[in-house]
Amino acid sequence: MSELDVATIRKDFPIFTRTIRDGKKLVYLDSGATSQKPQSVIDAEVNFYTKHNAAAHRGAHQLAEEATEAMESARQIVADFLGADVDEIVFTKSATESLNLVAYSYTSLLTKDDSIVVTEMEHHANLIPWQQLAERTGATLKWFEVDIEGRLDLSDINQVITEDTKIVAITHQSNVLGTINPLEAIVARAHEVGAVVVLDACQSVPHMPINVKELDVDFLTFSGHKAVGPTGVGVLWGRSELLEMLPPFLFGGSMIENVTMTSATWAPAPRKFEAGVPNMAQIVGLGAALNYLSRIGMEKIFLHEVKLGAYLIKKLSALEGLRIIGPQHMDARGGTVSFTFGDIHPHDLGQYLDAQGIAVRTGHHCAWPLTRKLGVPATTRASLYFYNDEGDVDALVDAIIGAKKYFGRP
Ligand code: ALA
Repeated sequence: MSELDVATIRKDFPIFTRTIRDGKKLVYLDSGATSQKPQSVIDAEVNFYTKHNAAAHRGAHQLAEEATEAMESARQIVADFLGADVDEIVFTKSATESLNLVAYSYTSLLTKDDSIVVTEMEHHANLIPWQQLAERTGATLKWFEVDIEGRLDLSDINQVITEDTKIVAITHQSNVLGTINPLEAIVARAHEVGAVVVLDACQSVPHMPINVKELDVDFLTFSGHKAVGPTGVGVLWGRSELLEMLPPFLFGGSMIENVTMTSATWAPAPRKFEAGVPNMAQIVGLGAALNYLSRIGMEKIFLHEVKLGAYLIKKLSALEGLRIIGPQHMDARGGTVSFTFGDIHPHDLGQYLDAQGIAVRTGHHCAWPLTRKLGVPATTRASLYFYNDEGDVDALVDAIIGAKKYFGRP
C-alpha cells in the first residue's frame, strides 16, 4: 500500500511492544494529541543527562561547552528541517508558549485602529492569545468562517483581511477536521495589506515536508512532542527582521546584553527570547526526532498518511449512522478524521474503544468554537501517523461495529 515498511518502523518504538487492557494489542490513533517516541529520541535524552548535563550558555567548563554544543547542533537540525536560518529558531517550552510569545510581544505594536484575523477552526492555543491581545490593545478580532464541509470560506477574504489588519494567525492543518488550509491566497492577501502571517504548524510539521521560505509566512510554530520528540520543547520560527524588531516576552538570565540596577538591554535574537536555563535535554531529543523523521522522509510520511486516511474514510463512510466531521476526500486534507456515530456519545464510544485497546481522542479537541459551529457537542477523533497501518484502521472499524451491539443500537 505504501512505500513505508510500517512493521519495521514500529520496532523503533518501544511502546508498541506493550499490550493494553488485559493483553490487547495497542492500537494508537491519537498522534494528533501526542506522538509516540522512537528509541533514538529516548536515547538522546538519556545520553544528554548521562554524559553531558550542564547549563548550556553558562559555565566555563567542559560539560557546559558540550551542553551548549549539543543544544546548538539541535538548533541547526531544526533550521535545516524547516529550510530556515539558524538564528531564526527560538526554543520555547511548547507551541502554546510560542504563540503567546508572539501575541504578547505585539502588545506595544497594536492599537485600537488595528485588526487581528484568525479562523473558526483554530485550536484554543491559536485563538485565546489573540483574543487577549485584542483585549489589551483595543484591536478588533475578525475571523474566517468554516463551511459545512470543514473548509475555510475565503469568499470574503478582502473584507476579512483589510488595510487595518496587522496579524493573520491561522492553523496549517486543523487538529479536528484534518483540513489543510490554502495558505497561498491568505498569505498573498495578508502581505498585500502589510500584515504578518503566524502559522500554527503543530499538525503539519510532523506530517509533511515544510519549508518556511516556500510557505512565505512570517512566523511558524510547532511542538516537539507531536513530531516524535520529547514533551517540554516547542519551536518558534520567525523572519529574522521581525525577531530583531519584536520586544522580548520573558525576562531573566541569558537574554541580555547589559544590565544595570535600573535597566537592561537585550541580546540579539534568538537569545533574547530564551530567558532562563533552556530545556536542553528536550531540545537535544527534538534534534534526534527530526533526524529520525528525515531518515524516513517527510514526503513518504505524507503520502503514507494520505493513503491510509483515504482507506479510513472509505471504511468509516460505509458504516450506517457514522458522520464524518470534515472533508470526505483526501484533497488538501491529512490523516486526522473526526466523526460521530448515531446517538452514541463520543465519550461513551471512546471508552468502549479503549476497552478494546484502541486509543482515540474524544471531546471538542480544544477547538470549542469549531465544534459548536458544526453543530456537534463533541466528536471521536482518530489521528493517524506513519507508524499506523491498515490493520489499525480495520481494528477501529470492527470495534465501532462492536460498539453498536454493545450499546444496544439496531
Ligand atoms: N492539540 C492536541 C490535540 O489536538 C492536544 O489533541
